[in-house]
Amino acid sequence: MDSPFEGRLVRLRAKEPEDEPAFFRWINDHEVVEHLSARYPFSHAQEREWITATAAPGFGDASFAVETLADGKLIGNCNLGGTSPELRSATLGIVIGEKDYWDGGYGTDTMRTLCRFGFAEMNLHRIQLEVLAGNDRAKHVYEKIGFRVEGVRRDAHFRHGAYRDSIIMGLLEGELKLD
Ligand SMILES: CC(C)(COP(=O)(O)OP(=O)(O)OC[C@H]1O[C@@H](n2cnc3c(N)ncnc32)[C@H](O)[C@@H]1OP(=O)(O)O)[C@@H](O)C(=O)NCCC(=O)NCCS
Repeated sequence: MDSPFEGRLVRLRAKEPEDEPAFFRWINDHEVVEHLSARYPFSHAQEREWITATAAPGFGDASFAVETLADGKLIGNCNLGGTSPELRSATLGIVIGEKDYWDGGYGTDTMRTLCRFGFAEMNLHRIQLEVLAGNDRAKHVYEKIGFRVEGVRRDAHFRHGAYRDSIIMGLLEGELKLD
């Protein structure tokens, strides 16, 4: 039986206090957060609190660090949060914070591994997310693995002096494309 935490390129694991410097660097990197809702600077104290609050993955918030299978390098984080046992649904978040790894297939593999975990281990029926209009790389990755556009929240975000739409996407069990 293959590990439910491993894809072809990445492994998902629990976050550790030692991960804080990398998380701090990513959340304060304007290129990494360009298409996220984060807009204020984050302190080391805030990052430590966030790691402490999310360090024990469980059904309520399955939150993971993402490391490469090849050499165990920490490159990102992801989660399935806001889970509902009645609806069997969760909301997905992902950041590959190490920019040198962008466009290397790591985000796609992380998405597939996390969604597979959500369906096969958490018994989810539905995984949803929102992506800001203009985040074309992320939207391409989501569509590639089977997410469908379900709607648009018009002018839902405000960045750099302009409003942006937020695109609602969803993936149901059985729809995940593993190749
Ligand atoms: C979005 C993100 C998770 C994608 O991860 P990644 O490792 O760069 O993605 P991958 O290498 O697996 O795949 C990238 C795909 O997008 C394509 N792509 C790159 N730039 C693109 C663009 N401007 N428009 C459309 N597609 C694009 C690549 O060609 C590749 O597709 P392919 O495999 O079919 O050739 C990552 O870049 C990231 O974390 N960005 C910052 C945070 C963020 O935006 N998170 C998502 C919030 S909703």
